[in-house]
Parts: sequence; C-alpha cells; structure tokens
Amino acid sequence: MLRPLLGAWAGSGTGEYPTIEHFAYDESITFTHVGKPFITYTQRTKHPDTGAPMHTESGYLRVPRPGSIEIVMAQPPGLAEVYEGAVVGGDAPLVIDVRSTSIGSTTSAKEVTITERTISVTGDDLRYTFRMAAVGQPLQHHLSATLRREESGDIALFAPEVDRFSTDII
Ligand code: HEM
Repeated sequence: MLRPLLGAWAGSGTGEYPTIEHFAYDESITFTHVGKPFITYTQRTKHPDTGAPMHTESGYLRVPRPGSIEIVMAQPPGLAEVYEGAVVGGDAPLVIDVRSTSIGSTTSAKEVTITERTISVTGDDLRYTFRMAAVGQPLQHHLSATLRREESGDIALFAPEVDRFSTDII
C-alpha cells in the first residue's frame, strides 16, 4: 500500500507559526525498505539561499491492517512522535492522514503536545502539510511542501537481495 512512497524526493517548502518568522526551505526525503513490512523515512532540510542545514528527522511507517497506518518519528531537538491514522491508495493517489497519539520529549525540548501530518503522492509528486500545538499555541499550520521524485523504485537498504518487494509486505 505504501509502495508509491519508495524512492528519493527533492523539493521545497515554507513554514510559519505565530511565535516565529515565516521561512522557506529546500528538502530531501528518502523512503526505503529492508525487505520487512515497514518503510524507513529520512529527511533533511536546508536554507534555500545559504544552504545552511535546518530541520532533520527520521522514522518508520507501517500498515498494520489495510487502511490503517502507524508512524514513529524522531526529532533531534528531543522529540519522539507516535502517530496513528488512515491511509488510502490503490488506484487512487496515496493519501496518509495521521495525528499523534503520544509525543515523548526530553527535558530541554520545546513543548509540543499534538502533531498532525497529511501526505499525498500522485505519480511523481509528493505534497505534505504539518500542523502542531506547541509552545502554548493551539493546533495550527507549521509546514507545507511539494517534492518531486528524483529516484524511483525499491531502494533496499541492507538487503540488496530483496530487489523487489511483494505487495503483501507493505
Ligand atoms: C521541514 C521540517 C521543519 C522545518 C524546516 C522547521 C523549521 C523551523 C524554524 C525555522 C523554526 C524557527 C526557528 C527555530 O526555532 O529553530 C521552527 C520552530 C519550531 N518548530 Fe519547526 N521545522 C520543521 C519541522 C518541525 C517539526 C516536525 C516539529 C515538531 C514535531 C517542529 C516544531 C517546532 C517548534 C516547537 C518550534 C519553536 C516555536 C517557538 O519556539 O516559538 N518543527 N521550525
């Protein structure tokens, strides 16, 4: 079901929140698999003018049963998000819609109480939006981005022998 995600993606996005200045970023994402029923996600962003590194994160996605998706995501500034939600795909564009069920944080992390992500893939185009309740603010928009597939197909990290993965794995 998550097969349309597989590959390397590049694009750009913008972000905002009431407590900070608006910003823009360039983004690279990979969705890979190891031949087991989950997808590995890595992301990094950089400043569009200076190239300075900005946010980065990584995580795992899996479909425990058709229509449901679970995601765990780690943020370097001390946050760990656990998401659950819905996934629709098949012949239609892939749409993932998740909301956090818990967020763990280190002592020094900023306060983030709810996060939501919507990700859609149509052919070689990926779009996402991200909303959060953080630093005392109600749930609202933080990010939106559009990426284009740069590299397609099965990127089978650590398991080169798994060059095709069967549709029943994910
Ligand atoms: C593409 C990914 C992201 C980018 C480029 C990005 C960028 C930024 C920037 C530039 C700021 C303002 C300066 C700063 O505090 O560093 C910021 C603030 C913040 N971001 Fe993000 N962010 C991203 C994803 C996330 C995610 C996934 C979360 C939460 C899980 C998050 C939570 C926050 C929080 C809590 C603040 C601080 C707001 C404040 O202190 O008023 N961000 N982000």
